[in-house]
Amino acid sequence: MSQKLVNRVALITGANRGIGRALAKAFAKEGAECILAGRNQQELDLLCAQITAEGAQAKTLLIDLSSDNSIQEACTQLKSMVDRVDVFIANAAYLGARLPIATYPIDTFRQTFQVNVFANLLLLQGLDDLLKKSSAAKVIMMSALVATQAKIGTGSYAVSKAALESLARIYMIEHKNTNITVNTVSPGATRTLMRAAAVPSEDPMSIKAPEAITDLFVELSQASCAKQGEWIDADVWLKNKS
Ligand SMILES: NC(=O)c1ccc[n+]([C@@H]2O[C@H](COP(=O)([O-])OP(=O)(O)OC[C@H]3O[C@@H](n4cnc5c(N)ncnc54)[C@H](OP(=O)(O)O)[C@@H]3O)[C@@H](O)[C@H]2O)c1
Repeated sequence: MSQKLVNRVALITGANRGIGRALAKAFAKEGAECILAGRNQQELDLLCAQITAEGAQAKTLLIDLSSDNSIQEACTQLKSMVDRVDVFIANAAYLGARLPIATYPIDTFRQTFQVNVFANLLLLQGLDDLLKKSSAAKVIMMSALVATQAKIGTGSYAVSKAALESLARIYMIEHKNTNITVNTVSPGATRTLMRAAAVPSEDPMSIKAPEAITDLFVELSQASCAKQGEWIDADVWLKNKS
């Protein structure tokens, strides 16, 4: 079968583990040149070595989303590594604390906004030129169901995802007449460290592995994908697929 992402440069944040790691492996298998972005150089190097050992293409990009300087430096470095970005998966996120709003620590709230919202704003700004150089750039924002639900204890995480979705919509409409399309995905309950921290009472084996939903992202990242401004529930996609 032919590969679906040949000649596509894909930047994935939080590529060292969880959903980001599964996406990086799936994208590399489909022929994409993966830029594995994250703050854990050792884990990124290991993943990069695994991908390239299988004959696929990957590079690492060190970025700490809690630091504006690190984000700006990473964007500068990226420009020396690639001449365009065809796919940007804004995947990395911070869960924050699971506490009621009335007693929520403001510093944790700010930190969640830094990683989940401000970092992605800075990345959209830093990547804008590189995305415009693609003939069909795809931006995929990773959100969550709680962005639009009133779920107890989801605090800064839920509020930051709502803000991220708004950011995505505005960026999308401002790029209406360009080759950049923007879609948002809610992955749904997925077996990762973040999910385990959010719902410690849950049996991890009772929920899907990240690999179950990678095909959705491959589909959305293809140059031919016509979707624009959509909010996609990966669990609904999975149900319709089977
Ligand atoms: N898993 C679920 O059930 C679920 C449900 C809804 C939405 N999501 C969304 O799916 C996405 C992926 O989540 P996941 O479940 O795969 O979580 P995960 O396994 O906890 O991975 C989170 C990733 O974000 C990175 N990250 C966090 N803070 C960072 C920072 N300051 N700088 C750079 N990287 C940072 C982590 O890197 P480190 O290893 O360095 O911390 C890690 O690679 C997130 O946007 C999450 O909100 C997940």
